[in-house]
Amino acid sequence: MKPASWNYSEQFITEDEVLLAARARADEVGVTPISSGTGAALRFLTAVLEARTVVEIGTGTGVSGLWMLRGMRPDGVLTTVDIEAEHQRLAKETFNEAGIPSQRARTISGSALDVLPRLTDGHYDLVFCDGDKREYSAYLAEALRLLRPGGVVAFDNALWHDRVADPSQRDPETSSIRELSRLVAENDNLVPVLLPVGDGLLVAKKEWAGDA
Ligand code: DHB
Ligand code: MG
Repeated sequence: MKPASWNYSEQFITEDEVLLAARARADEVGVTPISSGTGAALRFLTAVLEARTVVEIGTGTGVSGLWMLRGMRPDGVLTTVDIEAEHQRLAKETFNEAGIPSQRARTISGSALDVLPRLTDGHYDLVFCDGDKREYSAYLAEALRLLRPGGVVAFDNALWHDRVADPSQRDPETSSIRELSRLVAENDNLVPVLLPVGDGLLVAKKEWAGDA
């Protein structure tokens, strides 16, 4: 018999004390992590990709990073970029507490659009974007360059609290995410899906043919 509090969907997304501590740190410094459902989706993606190389835009306090590291191959390396070095210090605490070897998490502090051009073309299995919403289309262009054929790009906040689907919402973040969605939908070299987890996770596979 299941306990009275047993929740069918939550059994797949239960977070341990390390992730809960990372969420508490996020609260303290005022960053908003991914939902646990989004975390489970990202862990699944890294697992099916058997990912060795992942880029993350927006380290925060390491919630999404840890979910992904737990799906990646045991020797996989997460390269995670954030403009706030202090947040990355907290993310390293999260990875340490989880027993992740330090060489598996490469933190780079700086603006994503300054840092990403320095990373190697065609080298990455997954690019996860959760940084400045106004830069999402620019992140897509960088991700398509960084991904190997068959690699996957993913964007958090694709629904943006249901604002993206509401034409009366025209603020810069909402407009930018709407533009990103259009670029993904119109790109014949991408196989997209919008996963209704958390605030929406837009995922697209870069096809083997063509150069996206
Ligand atoms: C917010 C949520 C996010 O997931 C994010 O990446 C940035 C901001 C928010 O709700 O404000
Ligand atoms: Mg987000």
